[in-house]
Amino acid sequence: MRIVHSVSDFRALRPTLGRLAFVPTMGNLHEGHISLVRAALEHADRVAASIFVNRLQFGPAEDFSRYPRTLAEDAAKLEEAGVDVLFAPDEDEMYPAPQTYHVEPPASQVGILEGEFRAGHFRGVATVVMKLFQIVQPDIALFGKKDYQQLMVLRNMVAQFAVPVAVVGCDTIRADDGLALSSRNGYLSTEERRRAPQLHEELQHIRQEVLGGNREFDELQAAATTRLDAGGWRTEYVRICRRVDLQAAEPAAGEALVVLAAARLGTTRLIDNVEI
Ligand code: PAF
Repeated sequence: MRIVHSVSDFRALRPTLGRLAFVPTMGNLHEGHISLVRAALEHADRVAASIFVNRLQFGPAEDFSRYPRTLAEDAAKLEEAGVDVLFAPDEDEMYPAPQTYHVEPPASQVGILEGEFRAGHFRGVATVVMKLFQIVQPDIALFGKKDYQQLMVLRNMVAQFAVPVAVVGCDTIRADDGLALSSRNGYLSTEERRRAPQLHEELQHIRQEVLGGNREFDELQAAATTRLDAGGWRTEYVRICRRVDLQAAEPAAGEALVVLAAARLGTTRLIDNVEI
């Protein structure tokens, strides 16, 4: 695996790579990221991954400085998984001057769910992904469905800017007890880790209820919130939404649905979702 730190070196390499699949990450890799690499290998001749902790997508009170930087371990995992090129720029390389041009997703898509609690987050994600796409020039890019709203925003960004990259969403990878794998799980204490699967259990419960014909969406959301709060969480949202644009689902409409949640256990904020 080649490790490339500069934009100019990546550009020089790109013509040799053929049809290229791309897995952008912020590092601190787990099995969820590796599953994206495995999926990428099925789509293209070569696979590139990136590791860059993107300051633009962290709010002032968020964990940018304590976000784990584990480049050597991550590079070994990517190489073993079959990645051909790792793009690992430092901040001066990605943002040699303060980034004053941004991709601004519409408020209807980013003022909801995660965007209600993380102002500016998706603007930061969309901006860095657009920039990574300009540098890496992939044919395909793979993202996990765990960040469901991120996937929706990036799909729409690519469509609206006619970016020639096929965006592929991949299923969430879970621990045996159902907890969605996340770099942030490492912040949980032993006791919090024991409680953490409740988030997924509540989403599964809602899924079963809706599949069984329960259309009382408000009640289902409120009951799950009450149970989570009683289980020691601080719930930010539990919401049944239309998959296509993540607007609140109308119980009477026969749309494809997804239920999404965010909640805090101690100081750790976890998100999860389940398609219905
Ligand atoms: O999902 C992530 O890890 C990040 O949001 C991404 C897509 C790599 C952009 O920084």
